[in-house]
Amino acid sequence: MDYLAFLLAILQVYKALCEETFWDTTIRLAESMTLECVYPFMAILTQAEWFKIVGKQKQSMAIFHPTYGVIIRTSYKNKLHFVNSTTSLKDVTLSFNNASKADVGLYSCLLHIFPHGSWEKMIEVVQSDSFEIAESSNHSHMTSSPGNITLTYDLPVNWAVQQIKWEKIQPHQVDLLVHCNLSEGISYSRYGKQILTNCTQGIRSNFIIIINATASDSGLYRCHFTASTGENESFLMRLTITDGKTDNQYIVFVAVGTVLFLFVILIVTITVISYNRRRRRQKNFPVKIPWDTQSKAVNNYRSPISPHQPVDNANEDIYVNYPTFGRRPKPKV
Ligand SMILES: *[C@@H]1O[C@H](CO)[C@@H](O)[C@H](O)[C@H]1NC(C)=O
Ligand SMILES: *[C@@H]1O[C@H](CO)[C@@H](O)[C@H](O)[C@H]1NC(C)=O
Ligand SMILES: *[C@@H]1O[C@H](CO)[C@@H](O)[C@H](O)[C@H]1NC(C)=O
Ligand SMILES: *[C@@H]1O[C@H](CO)[C@@H](O)[C@H](O)[C@H]1NC(C)=O
Ligand SMILES: *[C@@H]1O[C@H](CO)[C@@H](O)[C@H](O)[C@H]1NC(C)=O
Ligand SMILES: *[C@@H]1O[C@H](CO)[C@@H](O)[C@H](O)[C@H]1NC(C)=O
Ligand SMILES: *[C@@H]1O[C@H](CO)[C@@H](O)[C@H](O)[C@H]1NC(C)=O
Ligand SMILES: *[C@@H]1O[C@H](CO)[C@@H](O)[C@H](O)[C@H]1NC(C)=O
Repeated sequence: MDYLAFLLAILQVYKALCEETFWDTTIRLAESMTLECVYPFMAILTQAEWFKIVGKQKQSMAIFHPTYGVIIRTSYKNKLHFVNSTTSLKDVTLSFNNASKADVGLYSCLLHIFPHGSWEKMIEVVQSDSFEIAESSNHSHMTSSPGNITLTYDLPVNWAVQQIKWEKIQPHQVDLLVHCNLSEGISYSRYGKQILTNCTQGIRSNFIIIINATASDSGLYRCHFTASTGENESFLMRLTITDGKTDNQYIVFVAVGTVLFLFVILIVTITVISYNRRRRRQKNFPVKIPWDTQSKAVNNYRSPISPHQPVDNANEDIYVNYPTFGRRPKPKV
């Protein structure tokens, strides 16, 4: 019964995919480019095959079998290789050594997974400019340490949101993390990392959880949603994941800085006190000081910041860019 429901869900997702073609990854053509394909769950990979989709045809490029090994088809010899990652046996990422304009197009990575069945990821190679998006002050910024990271977005209250897309945007590549069809309550993901979400109709806010996120998951994320009326909006968020070490270094840096600062204050206090005492003594017993020593003393005494500046600043209005509360993502780690 569960399997039937699962199959129906897959069929519906497939239908949805056919209705509105979207790619799991869009990548910019480059001479050496990498088409990522990683199965994110625990399972056994029995076979993997890469295809180029030309019209309605699927042309095999390369095939991998855990016991029989790798075969690169003749037309792709010397052009492709599998990037073998030692971290995961379910990584069949393919790399182009010498890609050209002829390699623009659509690719499919088809995995046979035991016991789940087949799993397909679609990649589009385009000839385009950088995918980078100019960030404005509206975009939020979140810093977190490695682990499970939650990105949340509060949906507009008066919108009947129908679909939600979360993407990761890099200058050379755009990855679909998860796609939600709220009317069906189905989420879809072919991302190489486990992403959890809740696509229930009527939700007021949407979240994704990136499982075991590391420093490599730092970057720009986009939440894009479409209402039943066809209206759409998107929201950008920059995520920085510190690798833990930097944090400690920072704390040490701050501690050393504080000690130095206190030391400097102490020295300045002692100098000022002794200067005042000397001045009092100088009044009683005037001593001739050579000209250059005097000018040095004056220079040392002068503060690098004019004492008038803070007063000027205090008179000016201060504007703070801050996202509206309803829209602010709430970092939950
Ligand atoms: C979402 O699901 C509804 C109901 O099945 C369907 O009509 C609609 O086309 C789907 N939308 C997308 C983008 O898949
Ligand atoms: C990657 O290396 C591992 C260990 O050497 C091997 O078992 C696996 O078959 C290789 N995968 C690919 C795609 O070459
Ligand atoms: C890369 O392609 C260019 C032209 O398409 C060719 O001249 C060159 O020899 C190729 N290099 C390799 C390493 O295949
Ligand atoms: C910031 O967001 C508000 C509403 O969310 C929008 O009206 C405004 O145009 C945005 N500003 C920029 C610079 O994107
Ligand atoms: C992250 O989430 C996964 C899946 O829910 C869970 O198994 C794991 O224990 C969580 N890890 C941490 C550090 O909370
Ligand atoms: C998803 O969200 C709905 C509505 O907020 C809630 O009732 C449901 O328990 C959530 N499901 C999961 C798996 O968190
Ligand atoms: C996440 O990390 C924990 C501990 O580091 C590990 O036990 C778990 O298997 C990892 N989960 C995934 C999905 O990688
Ligand atoms: C979002 O809406 C704008 C008009 O407001 C439209 O030009 C654009 O194509 C829409 N994008 C998507 C992905 O539907």
